Amino acid sequence: MVKKLLELNKIYNIDCLEGLKQLEDNSIDLVITSPPYEDITGAGYSAKSKDVLFLKLYSEFIDKVFNELLRVLKPTGQIFFNIKTQTYNKTIRTPHWLEFLESFQKFKLKSYIIWKYAGSFDSTDKRFHLDYEIIYHLSKTDDIYLNENCGIKDALTSVWYVPHNISNRLHPTQMPEVLVERILKITGKEGITVLDIFSGVGTTQTVAKKFGYNYLGFEINPQYVEIANKRLDQTTLASIPPQAKASGILEAIL
Ligand SMILES: C[S@@+](CC[C@H](N)C(=O)[O-])C[C@H]1O[C@@H](n2cnc3c(N)ncnc32)[C@H](O)[C@@H]1O
Repeated sequence: MVKKLLELNKIYNIDCLEGLKQLEDNSIDLVITSPPYEDITGAGYSAKSKDVLFLKLYSEFIDKVFNELLRVLKPTGQIFFNIKTQTYNKTIRTPHWLEFLESFQKFKLKSYIIWKYAGSFDSTDKRFHLDYEIIYHLSKTDDIYLNENCGIKDALTSVWYVPHNISNRLHPTQMPEVLVERILKITGKEGITVLDIFSGVGTTQTVAKKFGYNYLGFEINPQYVEIANKRLDQTTLASIPPQAKASGILEAIL
């Protein structure tokens, strides 16, 4: 059970570490989240330059986050943690440092998913395009649910092609709904609670609501919470877009 302090189906304007503290042990089925890249307000340091101090504080912050996620995740729970390669001083910095965190190593790293999209947001500095992001798929045990027959062709492959172009973008790093739909179709079961600790404009919660699942979220920026709440108000169970259904957009693309 989720602690009484936090009602289900809400996004709280709160630092995620504060929010996580208010959740019961073993209470969350699914975490879908994408951490902030440049401003970890909760860690007390914000650096556009992504310097060494930033990386140190950032990794300490993420370490705390993973320790809390380990505590709140059910033994049957799963985490999809989306993070991307950064550019720093005209060179790239992959997120593989994450795998060396003590907290990360307490999880089972089940899958290493490449989210591939067309085009690129970075074609400078003579490099191959950064046209992918990584999704770490983690669990506490092997007792997890993955529905291979959810209607997505080759559902359990590890390279997912999901276009990144979002019309009417509400957030600079907004996740495409189709990505969350894919995860929910493969892992979702009636009655689950889906958590996004870095909610942004509430993409995870919006899609969870469309699927009829419980959701919870934390987001430090009150403006994003406001936008997310408006999105949620306009979302109903019946409004699942056709691309989320069995013969989904991914099938059409692949
Ligand atoms: C990569 S964005 C997530 C975007 C989201 N997936 C969406 O589709 O809108 C990360 C978010 O984390 C928020 N954030 C940063 N530090 C935070 C903290 N300590 N606790 C909670 N949220 C935080 C940022 O304001 C930002 O909106």
